[in-house]
Amino acid sequence: MVRELNKRTHHCGALRKSDQGQSVLLIGWIQHIRDHGGLCFIDLRDREGITQLVLNPQQLSSVIDQLKPESVIEAHGTVALRPQDTINKNLPTGEIEVNVSEVIIHNICQTLPFPLDEKAQNVSEDTRLTYRYLDLRRSVNQKRLQLRHRAAHVIRNYLDQNGFLEVELPVLFKSTPEGAREFLVPSRLNPGQCYALTQSPQQYKQMLMVAGIERYFSFAKCFRDEDLRADRQPEFTQIDLEASFIDREDVYPLMEGLIHTLWKNCLDVDIPIPFPRLSFQDVMNRYGSDKPDRRFGLEIQDVSELFKNSNFNVFAKTVQNSGVIKALKVENFADMTAGELKELEESAKQMGAQGLAFIKVTQQEWKSPIVKFLSDDEKQGLTQTLQLHDNDCVFFMADKWEQACTVLGKIRLEISKILVKRGSLSISDTDYQFLWVVDFPLLTYDPEQAKFVATHHPFTAPVKEDIPLLKTDPYKVRGQHYDLVLNGIELGGGSIRIHNPELQRFIFEQIIKIPADKVQDRFGYMLKAFSFGAPPHGGIALGFDRLVALMSGTHSIRDVIAFPKTQKGQDLMSNSPSTVDAQQLRTLGLKALPTT
Ligand code: AMO
Ligand code: AMP
Repeated sequence: MVRELNKRTHHCGALRKSDQGQSVLLIGWIQHIRDHGGLCFIDLRDREGITQLVLNPQQLSSVIDQLKPESVIEAHGTVALRPQDTINKNLPTGEIEVNVSEVIIHNICQTLPFPLDEKAQNVSEDTRLTYRYLDLRRSVNQKRLQLRHRAAHVIRNYLDQNGFLEVELPVLFKSTPEGAREFLVPSRLNPGQCYALTQSPQQYKQMLMVAGIERYFSFAKCFRDEDLRADRQPEFTQIDLEASFIDREDVYPLMEGLIHTLWKNCLDVDIPIPFPRLSFQDVMNRYGSDKPDRRFGLEIQDVSELFKNSNFNVFAKTVQNSGVIKALKVENFADMTAGELKELEESAKQMGAQGLAFIKVTQQEWKSPIVKFLSDDEKQGLTQTLQLHDNDCVFFMADKWEQACTVLGKIRLEISKILVKRGSLSISDTDYQFLWVVDFPLLTYDPEQAKFVATHHPFTAPVKEDIPLLKTDPYKVRGQHYDLVLNGIELGGGSIRIHNPELQRFIFEQIIKIPADKVQDRFGYMLKAFSFGAPPHGGIALGFDRLVALMSGTHSIRDVIAFPKTQKGQDLMSNSPSTVDAQQLRTLGLKALPTT
């Protein structure tokens, strides 16, 4: 509720029957104007609600003639009960109206570029973002920003009660090219040198632990120059936290408590805690993703054993070369259309798959391009392992383990969408299936750089009992890393960190192979800090935009950011990014190359 700091006596959602006869002053935007049998009715809207005004054209005709929807006016008048037959039960103020004696016009609205009612949803997002200040007037967007505010407030309180200090950290940082692409900021005072905007305050928050802050949090602005998607923005907000003297078992209940408190306070929903914990290996095997959507089954199964000596060469060779055969059974999908199959095959291909074998199971026969290669034993084995029934359809992927899982994981998601469209599966936005994904490998092969890189980041501590493997079989080492996942979205990730300077240097130099001089240049200060009494520590960051989007049931984080960027990274309202003049560049010691 808005406290009345200004001259209005009430906001537009406040007046009730009991206010009958009161003199009031309301200020707001005109939502609707209707002319009814000699009286003019205006729905006046402000942030808190809508009140019906009644204007008598005999007294106020010169004003009424000027009014247009979305104009800002101030109305003086008296509260009256509405006639019984005009009561609006859908409106909290629906039993009253205000008989207006005086209107002051603050601003007349010109013709709007698009209507601000339900029809706005059909207006292109680009147009709405160009006029974001109008789009935000719509109640759906007002509610989203209010929810965002409420969530931030609850999180602050929760972390404060748990002993976390809010500390603001810099966003002008140093370039550390390991992670996502960075935004560079040239330094005028240090010609030829650049800051990088923080991708996250990771290193600063670890330094706060060395500084003895013990428990830190902030709402951190992060900047990543990545290709954008519905759940990615170039600047976004993390709920970032770090604590000393904790291990993984302390992080899980802390975050589960945070989520529980948040959902209870903001949505009045009781989220069951603790959340299930599944290993990376397990979620990849069952869902083909490290951020599985577990609101529906459709689990992937392994059938490699059945095809070791198959006549179907693709399968037999894959198994002989240490690959796997993964299968996905979809019940009642033997009527898959040629169009549906084509789309699925196309997706598999785009992910680098050689093909997508399938079998349609019907009582009469198995329909499939590969059925001619299958022996009776293999058919029987499949029927038993996959519990096949009439009308099932099975998809197969033969490849290296991670690739086979990932491709079939994508196919699983696409099939779920087809089933939802067909009406045979329902997936609810309010079915909140949280889980922790744990036991990630410390290292992941990056084909682009053709080397192993840290799965999370190079500050993540190895699982203690795996440390000896660092010298013998580093790719088997698990990291003390955890991801919080909700309904197919990675909500957050974190880890227990390395606080031993020798181990940290070994990981940089020997494991992820950063040359010693570069380690010194980029991370020398950290290694030094760790030699001055560094406490064991760990933490996590949740994507705040993703969190609020999931809470408000929208699939795009743009919907819960006041002024988001488009998929091309533009702010269409202010028209940025934009060219800068030569003089500005010169001051920074820069020169623009011609654009190609
Ligand atoms: P990470 O890189 O996993 O971890 O980021 C944490 C969370 O931030 C959100 N996120 C994004 N949200 C919107 N747009 C983006 N471009 C974007 N990128 C990431 C995700 C993600 O889970 N410093 C570590 C955390 C730690 O170890 O404590 C970090 O940044 O929800
Ligand atoms: P082919 O004999 O290569 O024409 O393949 C027969 C069927 O197997 C086709 O439906 C292909 O899509 C499928 N297929 C080929 N390679 C693979 C693979 N690696 N994994 C799964 N299916 C495959």
